[in-house]
Amino acid sequence: MESVQATKQRFGIIGNDKALNRAVEKAIQVAPTDISVLVTGESGVGKESIPKIVHSLSHRKHGKYIAVNCGAIPEGTIDSELFGHEKGAFTGATQTRNGYFEEADGGTIFLDEVGELPLTTQVRLLRVLENGEFIKVGSSKVQKTNVRIVAATNVNMFEAIKKEKFREDLYYRLSTVEIHLPPLRDRGEDIHLLFRKFASDFALKYKMPSIRLSDDAVLILQKYRWSGNIRQLRNIAEQISVLEQTRAIDANALRSYLPNLGDNLPAVVNQKKNEGDFSNEREILYKVLFDMKSDLNDLKKLTLELMKNDDSDQVQNENESLIQKIYGNDEEQEQYQEELEEQMEVLHIPENYENNTPTPTSTTEDKYSFAEEIEEEETLSLQDKEIELIKKSLERHNGKRKAAAEELGISERTLYRKIKQYNL
Ligand SMILES: Nc1ncnc2c1ncn2[C@@H]1O[C@H](COP(=O)(O)OP(=O)(O)O)[C@@H](O)[C@H]1O
Ligand SMILES: [Mg+2]
Repeated sequence: MESVQATKQRFGIIGNDKALNRAVEKAIQVAPTDISVLVTGESGVGKESIPKIVHSLSHRKHGKYIAVNCGAIPEGTIDSELFGHEKGAFTGATQTRNGYFEEADGGTIFLDEVGELPLTTQVRLLRVLENGEFIKVGSSKVQKTNVRIVAATNVNMFEAIKKEKFREDLYYRLSTVEIHLPPLRDRGEDIHLLFRKFASDFALKYKMPSIRLSDDAVLILQKYRWSGNIRQLRNIAEQISVLEQTRAIDANALRSYLPNLGDNLPAVVNQKKNEGDFSNEREILYKVLFDMKSDLNDLKKLTLELMKNDDSDQVQNENESLIQKIYGNDEEQEQYQEELEEQMEVLHIPENYENNTPTPTSTTEDKYSFAEEIEEEETLSLQDKEIELIKKSLERHNGKRKAAAEELGISERTLYRKIKQYNL
Protein backbone atom coordinates (compact mmCIF):
# COMPACT_ATOMS: atom_id res chain seq x y z
CA MET A 1 0.00 0.00 0.00
CA GLU A 2 1.27 3.44 -0.88
CA SER A 3 2.50 5.42 2.10
CA VAL A 4 0.80 8.58 3.32
CA GLN A 5 3.92 10.65 2.67
CA ALA A 6 4.32 9.38 -0.89
CA THR A 7 0.65 10.02 -1.64
CA LYS A 8 0.80 13.53 -0.27
CA GLN A 9 3.82 14.23 -2.42
CA ARG A 10 2.21 12.79 -5.51
CA PHE A 11 -0.91 14.90 -5.08
CA GLY A 12 0.81 18.09 -3.92
CA ILE A 13 -0.68 17.99 -0.46
CA ILE A 14 1.34 20.05 1.98
CA GLY A 15 1.20 19.58 5.74
CA ASN A 16 1.84 17.18 8.57
CA ASP A 17 -1.22 17.69 10.71
CA LYS A 18 -2.44 14.49 12.32
CA ALA A 19 -6.03 14.82 11.13
CA LEU A 20 -4.83 15.55 7.59
CA ASN A 21 -2.60 12.48 7.59
CA ARG A 22 -5.47 10.38 8.89
CA ALA A 23 -7.69 11.63 6.06
CA VAL A 24 -5.09 10.72 3.43
CA GLU A 25 -4.54 7.35 5.08
CA LYS A 26 -8.27 6.62 4.99
CA ALA A 27 -8.39 7.54 1.31
CA ILE A 28 -5.56 5.10 0.59
CA GLN A 29 -7.29 2.36 2.58
CA VAL A 30 -10.70 2.62 0.88
CA ALA A 31 -9.32 3.21 -2.61
CA PRO A 32 -9.06 -0.48 -3.70
CA THR A 33 -12.66 -1.19 -2.65
CA ASP A 34 -15.80 0.10 -4.35
CA ILE A 35 -17.10 1.68 -1.15
CA SER A 36 -18.76 5.09 -1.43
CA VAL A 37 -16.87 7.87 0.26
CA LEU A 38 -18.17 11.17 1.59
CA VAL A 39 -15.58 13.91 2.03
CA THR A 40 -16.56 16.59 4.54
CA GLY A 41 -14.96 19.83 5.64
CA GLU A 42 -15.27 23.57 5.27
CA SER A 43 -14.83 25.31 1.97
CA GLY A 44 -11.20 25.55 0.87
CA VAL A 45 -9.75 22.77 3.05
CA GLY A 46 -8.66 20.68 0.07
CA LYS A 47 -11.52 18.23 -0.37
CA GLU A 48 -10.94 17.88 -4.08
CA SER A 49 -7.73 15.88 -3.76
CA ILE A 50 -9.40 13.04 -1.85
CA PRO A 51 -11.52 11.68 -4.75
CA LYS A 52 -8.46 11.95 -7.00
CA ILE A 53 -6.45 9.82 -4.59
CA VAL A 54 -9.29 7.31 -4.31
CA HIS A 55 -9.61 7.01 -8.07
CA SER A 56 -5.88 6.86 -8.84
CA LEU A 57 -5.21 4.14 -6.30
CA SER A 58 -8.20 2.00 -7.31
CA HIS A 59 -8.59 -0.70 -9.94
CA ARG A 60 -10.57 1.93 -11.88
CA LYS A 61 -7.53 4.14 -12.41
CA HIS A 62 -7.56 3.54 -16.18
CA GLY A 63 -11.27 4.32 -16.32
CA LYS A 64 -12.74 7.78 -16.49
CA TYR A 65 -12.73 10.24 -13.62
CA ILE A 66 -15.52 12.82 -13.86
CA ALA A 67 -15.93 15.66 -11.36
CA VAL A 68 -19.35 17.27 -11.18
CA ASN A 69 -20.13 20.38 -9.19
CA CYS A 70 -23.73 19.72 -8.19
CA GLY A 71 -24.17 23.27 -6.91
CA ALA A 72 -23.26 24.82 -10.25
CA ILE A 73 -25.73 23.01 -12.51
CA PRO A 74 -29.21 24.55 -12.81
CA GLU A 75 -31.93 22.44 -11.27
CA GLY A 76 -33.71 22.06 -14.59
CA THR A 77 -30.84 20.36 -16.39
CA ILE A 78 -29.10 18.41 -13.67
CA ASP A 79 -30.93 15.11 -14.28
CA SER A 80 -30.12 15.29 -17.94
CA GLU A 81 -26.45 16.10 -17.25
CA LEU A 82 -26.06 13.21 -14.84
CA PHE A 83 -28.22 10.56 -16.47
CA GLY A 84 -28.58 11.78 -20.06
CA HIS A 85 -31.74 12.32 -22.08
CA GLU A 86 -33.62 10.91 -25.07
CA LYS A 87 -34.09 12.87 -28.23
CA GLY A 88 -37.23 14.99 -27.82
CA ALA A 89 -37.36 14.59 -24.05
CA PHE A 90 -37.77 18.36 -23.74
CA THR A 91 -37.61 21.43 -25.95
CA GLY A 92 -34.08 21.70 -27.27
CA ALA A 93 -33.29 18.02 -26.83
CA THR A 94 -32.57 17.53 -30.51
CA GLN A 95 -30.35 14.54 -29.91
CA THR A 96 -29.97 11.70 -27.50
CA ARG A 97 -27.26 12.53 -25.01
CA ASN A 98 -25.30 10.35 -22.63
CA GLY A 99 -25.05 11.52 -19.03
CA TYR A 100 -22.01 11.39 -16.78
CA PHE A 101 -23.11 8.12 -15.20
CA GLU A 102 -23.04 6.43 -18.59
CA GLU A 103 -19.76 8.11 -19.61
CA ALA A 104 -18.02 7.16 -16.38
CA ASP A 105 -18.97 3.48 -16.63
CA GLY A 106 -16.02 1.59 -15.16
CA GLY A 107 -14.61 4.74 -13.57
CA THR A 108 -15.27 7.20 -10.76
CA ILE A 109 -17.64 10.15 -10.38
CA PHE A 110 -16.89 12.90 -7.92
CA LEU A 111 -20.08 14.67 -6.83
CA ASP A 112 -18.94 17.94 -5.30
CA GLU A 113 -21.40 19.96 -3.17
CA VAL A 114 -23.67 16.94 -3.10
CA GLY A 115 -25.88 18.63 -0.49
CA GLU A 116 -27.15 20.88 -3.28
CA LEU A 117 -28.75 18.10 -5.30
CA PRO A 118 -32.51 18.53 -5.80
CA LEU A 119 -34.65 15.89 -4.08
CA THR A 120 -35.82 14.35 -7.34
CA THR A 121 -32.22 13.85 -8.45
CA GLN A 122 -31.45 12.32 -5.07
CA VAL A 123 -33.98 9.59 -5.81
CA ARG A 124 -32.26 8.75 -9.10
CA LEU A 125 -28.87 8.75 -7.43
CA LEU A 126 -30.05 6.40 -4.72
CA ARG A 127 -31.13 3.94 -7.37
CA VAL A 128 -27.70 4.01 -9.05
CA LEU A 129 -26.07 3.42 -5.69
CA GLU A 130 -28.36 0.56 -4.81
CA ASN A 131 -28.30 -1.48 -8.00
CA GLY A 132 -26.38 0.45 -10.65
CA GLU A 133 -29.58 1.29 -12.51
CA PHE A 134 -30.62 4.56 -14.09
CA ILE A 135 -33.05 5.83 -16.72
CA LYS A 136 -32.36 8.64 -19.20
CA VAL A 137 -34.69 11.64 -18.97
CA GLY A 138 -37.63 11.00 -21.31
CA SER A 139 -36.87 7.30 -21.64
CA SER A 140 -38.40 4.22 -20.09
CA LYS A 141 -35.45 1.94 -20.66
CA VAL A 142 -33.52 0.93 -17.57
CA GLN A 143 -29.75 1.06 -18.11
CA LYS A 144 -26.88 -0.28 -16.06
CA THR A 145 -23.66 1.40 -15.10
CA ASN A 146 -20.72 0.53 -12.88
CA VAL A 147 -19.52 3.71 -11.25
CA ARG A 148 -17.74 4.41 -8.01
CA ILE A 149 -19.07 7.48 -6.26
CA VAL A 150 -17.12 9.88 -4.11
CA ALA A 151 -19.12 12.86 -2.85
CA ALA A 152 -18.14 16.00 -0.96
CA THR A 153 -20.00 18.56 1.06
CA ASN A 154 -19.28 21.60 3.18
CA VAL A 155 -22.76 21.75 4.66
CA ASN A 156 -23.91 19.96 7.76
CA MET A 157 -25.75 16.98 6.32
CA PHE A 158 -27.65 16.26 9.53
CA GLU A 159 -29.12 19.75 9.40
CA ALA A 160 -30.03 19.22 5.76
CA ILE A 161 -31.71 15.93 6.63
CA LYS A 162 -33.60 17.52 9.49
CA LYS A 163 -34.83 20.25 7.17
CA GLU A 164 -35.85 17.57 4.67
CA LYS A 165 -33.50 18.93 2.03
CA PHE A 166 -31.51 15.73 1.89
CA ARG A 167 -32.69 12.13 1.99
CA GLU A 168 -31.47 10.25 5.00
CA ASP A 169 -31.23 6.92 3.14
CA LEU A 170 -29.07 8.52 0.46
CA TYR A 171 -26.83 10.09 3.08
CA TYR A 172 -26.10 6.69 4.63
CA ARG A 173 -25.48 5.19 1.22
CA LEU A 174 -23.02 7.92 0.29
CA SER A 175 -21.16 8.04 3.55
CA THR A 176 -20.24 4.41 4.07
CA VAL A 177 -16.83 5.86 4.79
CA GLU A 178 -16.56 9.50 5.78
CA ILE A 179 -13.30 11.36 5.36
CA HIS A 180 -13.13 14.62 7.24
CA LEU A 181 -10.62 17.33 6.43
CA PRO A 182 -9.77 19.66 9.31
CA PRO A 183 -10.12 23.43 9.00
CA LEU A 184 -6.85 25.28 8.47
CA ARG A 185 -7.12 27.09 11.82
CA ASP A 186 -6.78 23.73 13.58
CA ARG A 187 -3.69 22.73 11.67
CA GLY A 188 -1.05 24.51 13.80
CA GLU A 189 2.35 24.50 12.12
CA ASP A 190 0.90 23.59 8.75
CA ILE A 191 -0.35 27.16 8.40
CA HIS A 192 3.12 28.67 8.16
CA LEU A 193 4.36 25.72 6.14
CA LEU A 194 1.65 26.28 3.55
CA PHE A 195 2.28 30.01 3.56
CA ARG A 196 5.98 29.46 2.82
CA LYS A 197 5.12 27.06 0.04
CA PHE A 198 2.74 29.55 -1.59
CA ALA A 199 5.19 32.42 -1.06
CA SER A 200 7.86 30.48 -2.92
CA ASP A 201 5.42 29.49 -5.68
CA PHE A 202 4.48 33.13 -6.24
CA ALA A 203 8.13 34.25 -6.07
CA LEU A 204 8.78 31.90 -8.96
CA LYS A 205 5.68 32.97 -10.84
CA TYR A 206 6.36 36.71 -10.51
CA LYS A 207 10.13 36.36 -10.73
CA MET A 208 11.04 38.07 -7.48
CA PRO A 209 12.47 37.01 -4.14
CA SER A 210 10.11 35.23 -1.80
CA ILE A 211 8.35 37.16 0.97
CA ARG A 212 9.29 36.20 4.54
CA LEU A 213 7.26 36.65 7.73
CA SER A 214 8.66 38.06 10.96
CA ASP A 215 8.10 36.00 14.12
CA ASP A 216 5.20 38.15 15.32
CA ALA A 217 3.62 37.95 11.87
CA VAL A 218 3.79 34.15 12.08
CA LEU A 219 1.93 34.30 15.39
CA ILE A 220 -0.85 36.32 13.77
CA LEU A 221 -1.00 33.88 10.90
CA GLN A 222 -1.47 31.03 13.35
CA LYS A 223 -4.17 32.74 15.39
CA TYR A 224 -6.27 33.92 12.48
CA ARG A 225 -9.61 32.23 11.74
CA TRP A 226 -9.02 31.42 8.07
CA SER A 227 -12.70 31.01 7.30
CA GLY A 228 -11.76 30.52 3.63
CA ASN A 229 -9.09 28.03 4.69
CA ILE A 230 -6.26 27.15 2.29
CA ARG A 231 -7.86 28.95 -0.63
CA GLN A 232 -7.87 32.16 1.43
CA LEU A 233 -4.32 31.63 2.67
CA ARG A 234 -3.08 31.27 -0.87
CA ASN A 235 -4.91 34.40 -2.04
CA ILE A 236 -3.35 36.40 0.75
CA ALA A 237 0.13 35.05 0.06
CA GLU A 238 -0.33 36.11 -3.56
CA GLN A 239 -1.62 39.57 -2.71
CA ILE A 240 1.27 40.25 -0.36
CA SER A 241 3.81 38.86 -2.83
CA VAL A 242 2.57 41.22 -5.51
CA LEU A 243 1.66 44.34 -3.57
CA GLU A 244 4.36 44.71 -0.89
CA GLN A 245 7.57 46.51 -1.81
CA THR A 246 9.75 44.95 0.86
CA ARG A 247 10.13 41.19 1.15
CA ALA A 248 10.28 41.16 4.96
CA ILE A 249 6.67 41.18 6.15
CA ASP A 250 6.03 42.20 9.74
CA ALA A 251 2.88 41.87 11.85
CA ASN A 252 1.55 45.27 10.81
CA ALA A 253 1.93 44.66 7.12
CA LEU A 254 0.32 41.24 7.42
CA ARG A 255 -2.58 42.58 9.48
CA SER A 256 -3.63 44.94 6.72
CA TYR A 257 -4.35 41.93 4.49
CA LEU A 258 -6.47 39.99 6.95
CA PRO A 259 -10.17 40.86 6.97
CA ASN A 260 -12.09 40.79 10.26
CA LEU A 261 -9.06 40.45 12.45
CA GLY A 262 -10.16 40.44 16.07
CA ASP A 263 -13.28 38.53 15.31
CA ASN A 264 -13.70 36.51 18.45
CA LEU A 265 -17.11 34.97 18.00
CA PRO A 266 -16.04 31.74 16.37
CA ALA A 267 -18.83 29.49 17.54
CA VAL A 268 -21.73 31.63 16.36
CA VAL A 269 -20.08 32.72 13.15
CA ASN A 270 -19.12 29.21 12.28
CA GLN A 271 -22.57 27.83 12.73
CA LYS A 272 -24.23 30.58 10.74
CA LYS A 273 -21.67 30.28 8.00
CA ASN A 274 -22.77 26.78 7.21
CA GLU A 275 -26.19 28.10 6.46
CA GLY A 276 -24.67 29.55 3.40
CA ASP A 277 -25.97 32.92 2.38
CA PHE A 278 -23.71 35.36 4.19
CA SER A 279 -20.07 34.96 3.35
CA ASN A 280 -18.76 38.03 5.05
CA GLU A 281 -18.45 37.55 8.76
CA ARG A 282 -19.72 41.03 9.44
CA GLU A 283 -22.88 40.24 7.54
CA ILE A 284 -23.28 37.09 9.57
CA LEU A 285 -22.98 39.06 12.75
CA TYR A 286 -25.69 41.47 11.61
CA LYS A 287 -27.88 38.51 11.03
CA VAL A 288 -27.08 36.96 14.38
CA LEU A 289 -27.78 40.22 16.17
CA PHE A 290 -31.07 40.63 14.39
CA ASP A 291 -32.10 37.07 15.06
CA MET A 292 -31.31 37.60 18.71
CA LYS A 293 -33.28 40.78 18.73
CA SER A 294 -36.32 39.21 17.19
CA ASP A 295 -36.16 36.43 19.78
CA LEU A 296 -36.10 39.09 22.44
CA ASN A 297 -39.06 40.84 20.86
CA ASP A 298 -41.04 37.62 20.90
CA LEU A 299 -40.26 37.16 24.55
CA LYS A 300 -41.33 40.70 25.28
CA LYS A 301 -44.61 40.28 23.50
CA LEU A 302 -45.26 37.09 25.39
CA THR A 303 -44.52 38.74 28.71
CA LEU A 304 -46.79 41.64 27.88
CA GLU A 305 -49.53 39.25 26.89
CA LEU A 306 -49.24 37.44 30.20
CA MET A 307 -49.33 40.65 32.14
CA LYS A 308 -52.44 41.89 30.36
CA ASN A 309 -54.31 38.69 31.04
CA ASP A 310 -53.84 38.60 34.75
CA ASP A 311 -53.49 41.40 37.19
CA SER A 312 -53.62 39.74 40.55
CA ASP A 313 -50.81 40.93 42.80
CA GLN A 314 -49.02 37.65 42.93
CA VAL A 315 -48.93 37.22 39.16
CA GLN A 316 -47.85 40.82 38.81
CA ASN A 317 -44.91 40.14 41.08
CA GLU A 318 -43.96 37.01 39.23
CA ASN A 319 -44.05 38.94 36.01
CA GLU A 320 -41.81 41.62 37.40
CA SER A 321 -39.27 39.03 38.43
CA LEU A 322 -39.54 37.38 35.04
CA ILE A 323 -38.77 40.68 33.42
CA GLN A 324 -35.84 41.05 35.75
CA LYS A 325 -34.60 37.70 34.62
CA ILE A 326 -34.95 38.48 30.96
CA TYR A 327 -33.42 41.91 31.07
CA GLY A 328 -31.21 41.61 34.13
CA ASN A 329 -30.73 44.45 36.55
CA ASP A 330 -29.62 47.90 35.45
CA GLU A 331 -25.99 47.03 35.85
CA GLU A 332 -26.24 43.92 33.73
CA GLN A 333 -28.10 45.83 31.08
CA GLU A 334 -25.35 48.38 30.88
CA GLN A 335 -22.77 45.65 30.64
CA TYR A 336 -24.71 43.91 27.91
CA GLN A 337 -24.97 47.15 25.99
CA GLU A 338 -21.25 47.81 26.37
CA GLU A 339 -20.37 44.36 25.14
CA LEU A 340 -22.63 44.76 22.18
CA GLU A 341 -21.06 48.12 21.32
CA GLU A 342 -17.59 46.68 21.69
CA GLN A 343 -18.37 43.85 19.34
CA MET A 344 -19.91 46.18 16.84
CA GLU A 345 -16.84 48.37 16.98
CA VAL A 346 -14.51 45.44 16.45
CA LEU A 347 -16.53 44.52 13.40
CA HIS A 348 -16.84 48.12 12.20
CA ILE A 349 -20.60 48.06 12.20
CA PRO A 350 -21.76 51.55 11.24
CA GLU A 351 -23.20 53.93 13.80
CA ASN A 352 -26.71 53.99 12.41
CA TYR A 353 -27.02 50.29 13.08
CA GLU A 354 -26.11 50.98 16.62
CA ASN A 355 -28.86 53.56 16.86
CA ASN A 356 -31.35 51.01 15.70
CA THR A 357 -30.25 48.67 18.41
CA PRO A 358 -32.75 48.79 21.20
CA THR A 359 -31.22 49.77 24.48
CA PRO A 360 -32.82 47.73 27.18
CA THR A 361 -34.48 50.30 29.41
CA SER A 362 -36.00 50.04 32.81
CA THR A 363 -39.39 51.66 32.27
CA THR A 364 -42.01 49.11 31.41
CA GLU A 365 -43.58 51.25 28.66
CA ASP A 366 -40.43 51.60 26.61
CA LYS A 367 -39.79 47.91 26.64
CA TYR A 368 -42.58 47.11 24.27
CA SER A 369 -42.83 50.08 22.00
CA PHE A 370 -39.94 49.69 19.60
CA ALA A 371 -40.44 46.11 18.60
CA GLU A 372 -42.72 46.30 15.57
CA GLU A 373 -41.50 49.61 14.16
CA ILE A 374 -37.94 48.61 13.63
CA GLU A 375 -38.39 45.02 12.66
CA GLU A 376 -39.27 45.80 9.07
CA GLU A 377 -36.55 48.38 8.77
CA GLU A 378 -33.93 45.87 9.84
CA THR A 379 -35.02 43.26 7.36
CA LEU A 380 -34.83 45.87 4.64
CA SER A 381 -31.39 47.15 5.50
CA LEU A 382 -30.11 43.62 5.75
CA GLN A 383 -31.53 42.90 2.33
CA ASP A 384 -29.99 46.08 0.92
CA LYS A 385 -26.69 44.95 2.29
CA GLU A 386 -27.04 41.60 0.61
CA ILE A 387 -28.03 43.13 -2.72
CA GLU A 388 -25.10 45.48 -2.52
CA LEU A 389 -22.72 42.61 -1.76
CA ILE A 390 -24.01 40.58 -4.68
CA LYS A 391 -23.80 43.54 -7.06
CA LYS A 392 -20.27 44.39 -6.04
CA SER A 393 -19.12 40.84 -6.34
CA LEU A 394 -20.69 40.47 -9.78
CA GLU A 395 -19.02 43.69 -10.90
CA ARG A 396 -15.69 42.53 -9.59
CA HIS A 397 -15.99 39.36 -11.60
CA ASN A 398 -17.38 40.98 -14.74
CA GLY A 399 -20.73 39.33 -14.26
CA LYS A 400 -19.24 35.86 -13.99
CA ARG A 401 -21.63 34.09 -11.67
CA LYS A 402 -19.39 31.20 -10.85
CA ALA A 403 -16.59 33.40 -9.51
CA ALA A 404 -19.03 35.70 -7.70
CA ALA A 405 -20.80 32.78 -6.04
CA GLU A 406 -17.49 31.37 -4.92
CA GLU A 407 -16.44 34.68 -3.42
CA LEU A 408 -19.78 35.07 -1.67
CA GLY A 409 -19.58 31.54 -0.35
CA ILE A 410 -22.93 30.55 -1.81
CA SER A 411 -23.83 28.07 -4.52
CA GLU A 412 -24.28 29.26 -8.06
CA ARG A 413 -27.87 28.21 -7.89
CA THR A 414 -28.53 30.31 -4.79
CA LEU A 415 -26.87 33.26 -6.50
CA TYR A 416 -29.02 32.73 -9.57
CA ARG A 417 -32.14 32.68 -7.42
CA LYS A 418 -31.12 35.88 -5.66
CA ILE A 419 -30.37 37.65 -8.92
CA LYS A 420 -33.89 36.80 -10.04
CA GLN A 421 -35.45 37.63 -6.71
CA TYR A 422 -33.84 41.06 -6.52
CA ASN A 423 -34.09 41.69 -10.21
CA LEU A 424 -30.37 42.40 -10.58
N1 LIG B 1 -2.76 20.45 1.78
C1 LIG B 1 -2.69 21.28 0.74
N2 LIG B 1 -1.50 21.62 0.21
C2 LIG B 1 -1.42 22.47 -0.82
N3 LIG B 1 -2.47 23.04 -1.41
C3 LIG B 1 -3.69 22.73 -0.95
C4 LIG B 1 -3.87 21.83 0.14
N4 LIG B 1 -5.17 21.70 0.38
C5 LIG B 1 -5.79 22.51 -0.50
N5 LIG B 1 -4.91 23.12 -1.31
C6 LIG B 1 -5.24 24.08 -2.36
O1 LIG B 1 -6.26 24.93 -1.83
C7 LIG B 1 -7.25 25.19 -2.81
C8 LIG B 1 -8.62 24.79 -2.31
O2 LIG B 1 -8.70 23.37 -2.27
P1 LIG B 1 -10.04 22.60 -2.74
O3 LIG B 1 -9.74 21.17 -2.80
O4 LIG B 1 -10.59 23.25 -3.96
O5 LIG B 1 -10.95 22.93 -1.48
P2 LIG B 1 -12.46 22.50 -1.21
O6 LIG B 1 -12.88 21.62 -2.33
O7 LIG B 1 -12.40 21.81 0.10
O8 LIG B 1 -13.23 23.77 -1.14
C9 LIG B 1 -6.83 24.45 -4.05
O9 LIG B 1 -6.16 25.36 -4.90
C10 LIG B 1 -5.87 23.41 -3.55
O10 LIG B 1 -4.91 23.08 -4.51
MG1 LIG C 1 -14.33 22.44 -3.76
